Amino acid sequence: MSADLQFTVEPNTKPASDDQRASILANPGFGQNFSDHMAIATWTKEQGWHDARITAFGPLELSPATAVFHYAQSIFEGMKAYRHPDDSIHAFRPEANARRFNRSAQRLALPELPEEAFLDAVRRVVTIDKDWVPAGGESSLYLRPVMFGSDPYLGVRPSAQVTFLVMASPAGSYFPNGVKPVRIWLSEEYTRAAPGGTGAAKAAGNYAASLVAQAEAVEQGCDQVAFLDAIERKWLEELGGMNLYFVLDDNSVVTPELSGTILEGITRDSILKLVTDLGHTVTERKISIDEWRDGAASGRIREVFACGTAAVITPVASLKWHGGEVQVGDGEAGPVTAAVRTALLDVQYGRAADTHNWMTRI
Ligand code: PLP
Ligand code: COI
Repeated sequence: MSADLQFTVEPNTKPASDDQRASILANPGFGQNFSDHMAIATWTKEQGWHDARITAFGPLELSPATAVFHYAQSIFEGMKAYRHPDDSIHAFRPEANARRFNRSAQRLALPELPEEAFLDAVRRVVTIDKDWVPAGGESSLYLRPVMFGSDPYLGVRPSAQVTFLVMASPAGSYFPNGVKPVRIWLSEEYTRAAPGGTGAAKAAGNYAASLVAQAEAVEQGCDQVAFLDAIERKWLEELGGMNLYFVLDDNSVVTPELSGTILEGITRDSILKLVTDLGHTVTERKISIDEWRDGAASGRIREVFACGTAAVITPVASLKWHGGEVQVGDGEAGPVTAAVRTALLDVQYGRAADTHNWMTRI
């Protein structure tokens, strides 16, 4: 049944008006507005994946006993569709999201979704809501596939019923100040993920666990929180919702290696290739927090940037911790950060040749 999961289309009978949509698209922000439709499908042990529909975006009715509310058996993805100058619409590496979704599903004891069904759901939502893909600037249609245990049962076991959804949200900049360099707060008390845990999965609980540290960052006047490894509290892992890159004074580029406890970012992976294209050597290795602090102070580290689907490439201005703060470079976006950012956006927005075959036309 799941191999040829077909999404039937139930058009929204009360879509947003042209004026409502235009006013949202003029200033989309991030994650606050949603297009007219969503994809939804159900899995049960008996039937596998079934009841796949494209339907009006709107509330779900769920029992208070629904598994996900109690045991957080939930995963998600984040990806974007872009409007190109000729008005065609393209998704960035959607098959990489489909694969990661299934890796996350496996870790959270959720059923795998055939990659074809994931891609079909995304394609259909974007197609039916193509007018919701913003044009211009750095705006896009952010796509949020989710899978969660929807069985109304309080026993602790993998949910016998699971729901898959894809929603779409027109998006501008993730950070309210756009590409202004961000201040990073070092979480010394809280860690995000431990070996053997769920850190490499895009699991909802990872984000729940990061929120108190993110709130501390905001109290400290910072934009995002950086986490260290849970064992030695020494090695840089990633931010709450982004990976990290460093540019050294010999123009080489380094990023924390995949430790099994950080998310394998698709933007991170793309940047490994882009910086090589731009002529830099790039290394994935362990980076200690002292290397960041000392390197920023001495000038060995020239630039730091964060990367992710929502954040794109965001320059880092400084690292702050209890008792100190060190600026990176002159606190502004450096030239390598700017060049990588332009290279990535040019491919995503169809202004440069897609030499790595990353774009999928919808
Ligand atoms: N790390 C975390 C914890 C994230 O939530 C994200 C965002 O998706 C990333 C890294 C970057 O991943 P990607 O580039 O695939 O969006
Ligand atoms: C994304 O970049 O897609 C994420 O899921 C991260 C989150 C901070 C919005």
